[in-house]
Amino acid sequence: MNLDPPASALAYQSGFGNEFSSEALPGALPIGQNSPQKVPYGLYAELLSGTAFTMARSESRRTWMYRIKPSANHPAFIKLERQLAGGVLGAVTPNRLRWNPLPVPEEPTDFIDGLVAMVANSSPEKPAGISIYNYRANTSMQRVFFDADGELLLVPEHGRLRIATELGCLDLEPLEIAVIPRGMKFRVELLDPSARGYVAENHGAPLRLPDLGPIGSNGLANPRDFLAPVACYEDAQQSTRLVQKFLGELWGCELDHSPLNVVAWHGNNVPYKYDLRRFNTLGTVSFDHPDPSIFTVLTSPTSVPGLANLDFVIFPPRWMVAENTFRPPWFHRNLMNEYMGLIQGSYDAKAEGFLPGGASLHSCMSAHGPDAETCTKAIAADLQPSKIDNTMAFMFETSQVLRPSRFALECPQLQTSYDACWASLPATFNPNRR
Ligand SMILES: [Fe+2]
Repeated sequence: MNLDPPASALAYQSGFGNEFSSEALPGALPIGQNSPQKVPYGLYAELLSGTAFTMARSESRRTWMYRIKPSANHPAFIKLERQLAGGVLGAVTPNRLRWNPLPVPEEPTDFIDGLVAMVANSSPEKPAGISIYNYRANTSMQRVFFDADGELLLVPEHGRLRIATELGCLDLEPLEIAVIPRGMKFRVELLDPSARGYVAENHGAPLRLPDLGPIGSNGLANPRDFLAPVACYEDAQQSTRLVQKFLGELWGCELDHSPLNVVAWHGNNVPYKYDLRRFNTLGTVSFDHPDPSIFTVLTSPTSVPGLANLDFVIFPPRWMVAENTFRPPWFHRNLMNEYMGLIQGSYDAKAEGFLPGGASLHSCMSAHGPDAETCTKAIAADLQPSKIDNTMAFMFETSQVLRPSRFALECPQLQTSYDACWASLPATFNPNRR
């Protein structure tokens, strides 16, 4: 039933947090008011709130949609037999964990069936915390989904996707990311035979650009590189399955129409995409290197200033020029909890074992850093300007401890010997040699 969108629908509007607007038919968007008595073309007006009505104006997210049928036109949802894979949280562990890439299933698997819960730090009832999934798919969704539990940040590692949303289409490829607001209906279609990647489900405040402080008014991810879709509607009077995730469980119902039926819209609660290759990477030009917060693309704040519910941080290609400096990430033990993934190439802190599509978890106060091989090389290196190329690692960083799912603790992709990568660090201390 998936309809090819017209070429005019594969366009974008640029900016972040703007009051965007779009109409797929001329004059479909009411002028001067949100909910007129008679909406042009006989459409229905509907509001999607992403924040409480009374949030500060700078925090407020909402979008008005003008649609063929209102979302309320649905029968009761029924709990699905097939729930999300890996959904039950496993035992708590302070240990450092690392996983090989999960294989794409052989049987037909769409984006929802291929989601597998890896770690989480929130119960779905709470408006805070995050859950992290891997996705694997070999089939386009023939149904439409929305997530009542949070905003979704998609990080493809393999395979291109078309995300058909209520507000229009986003075409996505590895090295790009997409964010889907809480509650927004969408369908993930595959533009390649298979797809794999990572998803952060953000239960807290919506993601936004970090403040830049002394960096100034430019740098890191620039607002104009974020792309929102243009209106594109499906006027399909055919049975469509609508699935929602609600308090961690999947529920579904049958509609007699496509719910991607928004002809015009305006607002700032929108899906968007961003090309990570456009990140303006900053770093030292003298010695040492800044904290990895210098690589923050998007952040979801908590009520404590500076303490993130979720930071999305990338480690892109970049020049290394620091003098007299241990150039890999230093050894560290942090308050924050780090779930890392790799989109392409290799990561400069690990010689091997951390693969594209794989993941690692370093929890609060767990000691980690470069493996023994990387460390030894870095200390011995003749430091010249050099470029780290063919790499794109990322981190979902969060202030609350992440608990692995039972699946994540029991799957064969869990590396049982991860600790060994630091075991051969030699003791080079000599009290007689400064
Ligand atoms: Fe770390």
